[in-house]
Amino acid sequence: MSHISGNDNRDSFGSKFGVIAATAGSAVGLGNIWRFPYIAGENGGGAFLIIYLLFIILIGLPVMLSELTIGRSTQRNPFGAFRALKPGQKWFWVGVMGIAAAFMINAFYSVVAGWTLEYLVKAVTDQFSGKAPGEIVGQFNSFQATGWRPLMWTISFIVISGSVVMTGVEKGIEKFTKVLMPILVVLIVILDIRAITLPGASEGLKFLFEPDFSKITGASILEALGQAFFSLSIGMGTLITYGSYINKKENLGQATVAVAFTDTIIAILAGVAIFPAVFAFGISPASGPDLVFLTLPNIFSQMAGGYIFGLLFFFLLTVAALTSTISILEVVVAYFSEELNMSRKKATILASVGIAVLGILSSLSLHKAPGISIAGVNLFGVLEFVSSNVLLPLGGLLIVVFVAWLFGKKHLKEELTSFGLYKASYYRIYLFIIRYIAPFAIALVLMNSIGIIRF
Ligand code: TRP
Repeated sequence: MSHISGNDNRDSFGSKFGVIAATAGSAVGLGNIWRFPYIAGENGGGAFLIIYLLFIILIGLPVMLSELTIGRSTQRNPFGAFRALKPGQKWFWVGVMGIAAAFMINAFYSVVAGWTLEYLVKAVTDQFSGKAPGEIVGQFNSFQATGWRPLMWTISFIVISGSVVMTGVEKGIEKFTKVLMPILVVLIVILDIRAITLPGASEGLKFLFEPDFSKITGASILEALGQAFFSLSIGMGTLITYGSYINKKENLGQATVAVAFTDTIIAILAGVAIFPAVFAFGISPASGPDLVFLTLPNIFSQMAGGYIFGLLFFFLLTVAALTSTISILEVVVAYFSEELNMSRKKATILASVGIAVLGILSSLSLHKAPGISIAGVNLFGVLEFVSSNVLLPLGGLLIVVFVAWLFGKKHLKEELTSFGLYKASYYRIYLFIIRYIAPFAIALVLMNSIGIIRF
């Protein structure tokens, strides 16, 4: 028995694979295929990868497990979960922060998901074959120069993800993910093979796998931390919400490891497709958010079956983006509907309109109207930085501190073992990490980046 009774009429994920698939569907998305390569490219490659992996293990896994635990034990949205566990205390602010982060992330995420839709259309209409690298760059720039096209796609994407969330958890999220994700992985592996057999590919592999720690700065350590949070979907309560739909018999520890492993492998596989191509086609690895869109079409242009692979790839990338945004939107909608008693429909529409406004502004700020900026950084970059590098780590810090010191050891052990069903032999090390390692590591990185301390 959980010490807080959940509502019995809540949706829940159907099967074991359903849980892992839905959680992995949240984790795997543009974060792996668009953001990981571009952030790694801006931060020097190999050394960044090592720090990133370290953060996944030491901070990512424990935060993920902590979120799932809070969610499943309370069966509530993040805001309600904290209020149920510590009534009358300020912990619900973690939920409030999460909702702010959810808006910001969905806004810039939908912009890039919009580009993916444009590229799906380009792939369907066979615009990549026979194109030289310069023409591929030209395609991206003229797409951005239209001004209206990126906005149209961003709004379309927001409408699509809103419609899925409106239909509810089980039907909306689970079905998609199970079938399509494995196909995406196979496709990326095929792209890897093409990429590493390109002339000049070895430069790219060196860039990604040969660490050069002289390239690491305080700022790049923070980027690695932010990317670890972003990619695993942690720090803002997405996985509290998903945890709340997980059956009491599921093994949370096992699900955590499976999801984090899958997510990390896919990011690395994406890097192995991108960087060899980046060097082979003479693109700058530090091209920023545009990087993947300047690079991938070249691979399709130069591979047997490029038309069909390109089309499949951008379709599956759109689906991967969709299963991620719906998990973010779900946080806001669960809050609006469960705490503010709104209908699911009204909650979804309200959230989507807010996201659309912020999304349009951040889209314009990237290419068309760089004047939309704060302290000299375009709005898109500001939303990315504040959500990934500040709000998520801060949320993660509070979440692990909460589980480590306030959740109650007995209660924690009950959740991790599913009330004696599993051994959870990792319990002691997990508790040690969330007590003494993860919070300090996060705090150090944050303080280092605002200059309170210097490594
Ligand atoms: N992890 C997803 C990706 O890599 C994005 C995402 C989904 C996310 N839910 C989140 C990021 C919650 C942060 C928090 O594309």
